Amino acid sequence: MAKLTVRDLDVRGKRVLLRVDYNVPLEERDGQMVITDPTRIVATLPTLRLLMERCGRLVLAAHLGRPRGKPEPAMSLRPIGLKLHELLGKPVEFADDCTGAHAEKIAATLKDGGVALLENVRFHPGEEKNDPAFAEKLARLADVYVNDAFGAAHRAHASTEGVARIIARRGGPCAAGLLMERELKFLGEELENPARPFVVILGGAKVSDKIKVIDRLLEKADTILIGGAMAYTFKLAHGEKTGKSLVEPDHRRTALDAEAKARKRNVNFQLPVDVVVASPVNTGKLNKKGKPVFDYADVRTVKGDIPEDAEGFGIGPETAARYAEIIRGARTVLWNGPLGMFEDARFAEGTNVVARAVADATRRNGAKSIIGGGDSVKAINKAGLGDQVTFMSTGGGASLEFLEGAVLPGVATLSEK
Ligand code: 3PG
Repeated sequence: MAKLTVRDLDVRGKRVLLRVDYNVPLEERDGQMVITDPTRIVATLPTLRLLMERCGRLVLAAHLGRPRGKPEPAMSLRPIGLKLHELLGKPVEFADDCTGAHAEKIAATLKDGGVALLENVRFHPGEEKNDPAFAEKLARLADVYVNDAFGAAHRAHASTEGVARIIARRGGPCAAGLLMERELKFLGEELENPARPFVVILGGAKVSDKIKVIDRLLEKADTILIGGAMAYTFKLAHGEKTGKSLVEPDHRRTALDAEAKARKRNVNFQLPVDVVVASPVNTGKLNKKGKPVFDYADVRTVKGDIPEDAEGFGIGPETAARYAEIIRGARTVLWNGPLGMFEDARFAEGTNVVARAVADATRRNGAKSIIGGGDSVKAINKAGLGDQVTFMSTGGGASLEFLEGAVLPGVATLSEK
């Protein structure tokens, strides 16, 4: 059954607890925390505007980082409140604790259409423990619950799950926001009966991280194109040499089983035929985390075995051209995981060629192109093509779990229509 959405709600004069995912990247500049990518904030504006137009009183709850249950100034949501003020063009009140008398007073005195932002819910240990007493305190702030935090919906925390159950028990509606609705549509419904050919592009570091997604998509896809470091585990499983590349020797069987399943289901399962490699050189420097910093020498393309001294960093030109041709013929494309170390221009070309093919398929073929969150979104944005695909997920772990077919706790608790 379909979930209730904000469109179904009458929120006039009601306090709406709106869970958003404002876990955005921040950087310290001259002693100030500055937001380096506001995509997740901007993505919630349609929901905020709709609720404001309908005269709801909005109390926004969010987490930032992993402060482990205690206040951490660098993870305060205050800079997010300022950004929201700028984006909405109206003041946003800030409660410097997400529960307690001050937050309750702010919620009680909000005007119709007014907006308040609560401090980081993870400053309290009860949030991640989904502690009913903490959820109860959050529930005191609201009559209605709306969840627009798709990116955090895989967490069964107090603000994503516990509070919804309490509000529902009181007879209050619990609805999906417009962003949540779009995420569920594109990563869910649209992939149930995709227009064919349905081409899936899967990258990322590890086979073990992606095997559940591969398994599930083997049931739906016509073609699966593999890239990223996980391709080297497939190579290893085929008895090829992988040099210094990241591999999971314990998952050779997993890789071979996936290929066997693809053959059985007649899915065109493609692995890279060439790879861009380089020889890592230890610079003797350490990064902020105390890990050695490497430079990469002798960047070259190889076929077959990867030399002993070399590490694979991306799909080669022949693979990129093959993949691009397949993608250009697709009617539905799902992309999860970059196909190489796209952050470094020397290894980005393969990912960029694929990104351009996805944009071409969308424009010329009318294909639905769905970018499954995290690094693949960064890669397509870096290629300057973010506005040329059908949908980019704001989720990271949540998108992956949803694509695996998991029931997300933050979705399960929402009321049915
Ligand atoms: C994310 O950035 O993926 C979400 O905000 C969830 O954050 P978490 O992994 O710290 O729970």
